[in-house]
Amino acid sequence: MSGRSAYGQAPVALEVRDAAIAFGGVKAVDAMSLRVATGEVIGLIGPNGAGKTTMFNLIAGTLRPDSGAISIGGARVERETAARRTSRGLARTFQIPRPFAGMTVLENMLTAVQGQAGESLLGNLLAPGRVRREERAAIERAHELLDFLQLSRLAGEEARVLSGGQRKLLELGRALMAKPRIVLLDEPAAGVNPALLDFIIDRIAAINAEGITILLIEHNIEMIARLCSRVVVMAAGRWLAEGRPEAVTADPRVVEAYLGGAPA
Ligand SMILES: Nc1ncnc2c1ncn2[C@@H]1O[C@H](COP(=O)(O)OP(=O)(O)O)[C@@H](O)[C@H]1O
Ligand SMILES: [Mg+2]
Repeated sequence: MSGRSAYGQAPVALEVRDAAIAFGGVKAVDAMSLRVATGEVIGLIGPNGAGKTTMFNLIAGTLRPDSGAISIGGARVERETAARRTSRGLARTFQIPRPFAGMTVLENMLTAVQGQAGESLLGNLLAPGRVRREERAAIERAHELLDFLQLSRLAGEEARVLSGGQRKLLELGRALMAKPRIVLLDEPAAGVNPALLDFIIDRIAAINAEGITILLIEHNIEMIARLCSRVVVMAAGRWLAEGRPEAVTADPRVVEAYLGGAPA
């Protein structure tokens, strides 16, 4: 499943082929495929219940598909743990951010880093110098990201004081802590006020400009139109349409799916 994208010369960063998963009798995702080339920002859109978040769970490893193949950077990963996929450079945000309310914003950033030596007691005993170095590097990175997201002045505040939009930004920052190469963003603009929307769009563009590949679930069409070269539309668990944002949103099948007439 490696090879080149049909959309350019960049190698394929992420590919899902014929993925399916059912919960009880409900086929949440059914024969769904998509492909994202390195450096692209691709939108994943569709009405509520279409299966978009379930796709993210399949890609990130929170769920295992009943059938189908998932690859990251050409390597098959559908049987790997979520942690292994993280170490391949994949990160994701959650549709509903749930920061640790009693921890500070900075502490929330630090809990996002995985696989550090200090997480094991043995690592702490055997390599205390390495643990301290990693801690210092993580703190430095967290401060850089909080600065990038204009959250620095809130670093020492408990996460419970954050607005909905600030929680979305913290969620983005946590995803970036491990220096990912591919980021899955689940509705980063949901419930965000218009002023912050512009800022979030700008930050996602800046992240992409660093070479990070992005798959973006979003209902906000302005965000999709400004960021995405291409969108994939899902309805009722299935691939429905794909193309440039302005073409896809004018497609009668897509309009019908959003109006509730999702085809069987
Ligand atoms: N863990 C789960 N258990 C049972 N049903 C689920 C689960 N996750 C999602 N679903 C169902 O799968 C379908 C797709 O949901 P979801 O992926 O959240 O859609 P979207 O993100 O596009 O709104 C819905 O019918 C939802 O109720
Ligand atoms: Mg969802």
